[in-house]
Amino acid sequence: MTNFQNFFKQYPETSAPFMHKMLEDYQIRKPFAGMSIAHNVPLTRTTLLKIACLKASGASLTVTNPSFIKDSPQCLDVLSREGVQFVPLNRLKGSFDFLLDCGAELIEQCHATQGIVELTRTGAIRYEQISDSQVPIVSVDDTRLKSLETCLGTGEGVYRAVSELCPESIADKRILIFGFGKVGTGIAYYFSQKTDHISVVDMLPERLSTIESRGYEAISAELPKQVEDAIKQADVIITATGIKDILSHSYQHEWFADKVLANAGAEDEFGFNFSDSEILAEKKPVNFSLDEPTLMPFLDPIFYAHNLAIEDALNNQTAGFRALNKSHDQAIIQTWAQYHQWTLEQLNQIF
Ligand SMILES: NC(=O)c1ccc[n+]([C@@H]2O[C@H](COP(=O)([O-])OP(=O)(O)OC[C@H]3O[C@@H](n4cnc5c(N)ncnc54)[C@H](O)[C@@H]3O)[C@@H](O)[C@H]2O)c1
Repeated sequence: MTNFQNFFKQYPETSAPFMHKMLEDYQIRKPFAGMSIAHNVPLTRTTLLKIACLKASGASLTVTNPSFIKDSPQCLDVLSREGVQFVPLNRLKGSFDFLLDCGAELIEQCHATQGIVELTRTGAIRYEQISDSQVPIVSVDDTRLKSLETCLGTGEGVYRAVSELCPESIADKRILIFGFGKVGTGIAYYFSQKTDHISVVDMLPERLSTIESRGYEAISAELPKQVEDAIKQADVIITATGIKDILSHSYQHEWFADKVLANAGAEDEFGFNFSDSEILAEKKPVNFSLDEPTLMPFLDPIFYAHNLAIEDALNNQTAGFRALNKSHDQAIIQTWAQYHQWTLEQLNQIF
């Protein structure tokens, strides 16, 4: 028998302090009593804590699952035991007080009477283009706290996955990363705890300066000979540029022989010259080979912010697109840092 309570035991306060605090608060205040909410966020075991908080808030909840995620029978079973309605995305229609969205997938088929909250960059871009919205649209992607998930959480997940799948220890291996955006930054940070040999390729001069200032070797993607040498010297090569086929388009396949190869991007960044079996996790974003691609402590603050943004929209009903209130953003980062024993200086150095 599993229910929401079991998942709060599985992810105790040490791992999900924000969710535990929100549950307690919503059970007392019932801030969304009488409101209807449609919830479209990947339905995983971790998300069940977020959904439990919304149920405790008194809202009438309809849960769906984004088109790119397979339904988990275990999660559907828990929702059914808890009396939370699940409707497949292609059948979800109608009017709700709030849409809690991921990737702007509810935009076509559902209507919001009080507000919309979006979780991702792709979705924020779509919602930002709506010029005649009658309700607030709050993005939790345009925040610093999102880096806790995208930079630290993904970096840790990619590090954990490569370490588990790699036949040899990572210690002192030569790591080459393509792309020093939010994801690449976190990957470099976690690998730098195990080896001094970190090289990073990027296009942008300001990124190359940051790479150097962090003590890594910076290689400009504009200098093909330097990239070729770095590829040939590397033991482990990880892509995080967000660009499909980038390595097949730019570099020769034979330079990559006998290396551990991993993709962290949503697209296949190694591309058409590489077979699935040459890349860890068969070209999927490598952390998705793990049971928990991103650990709960990194998801907890963004789940909290996504629910909290409903109150942001209720408190400031100005219609149109905006980021989550900065004071909430800063407070969440500060609290997260205290819970998990990071200093703000450490976080500022990584983000
Ligand atoms: N695995 C996961 O769990 C996970 C989580 C979040 C995002 N992602 C994916 O990771 C990818 C990267 O996301 P991001 O947010 O870091 O993107 P980003 O845009 O912040 O960073 C991409 C970086 O790649 C650099 N770049 C562009 N062309 C390059 C080239 N030819 N060679 C080297 N560097 C180049 C850019 O200058 C930039 O610094 C995306 O596909 C994203 O969807 C994966």
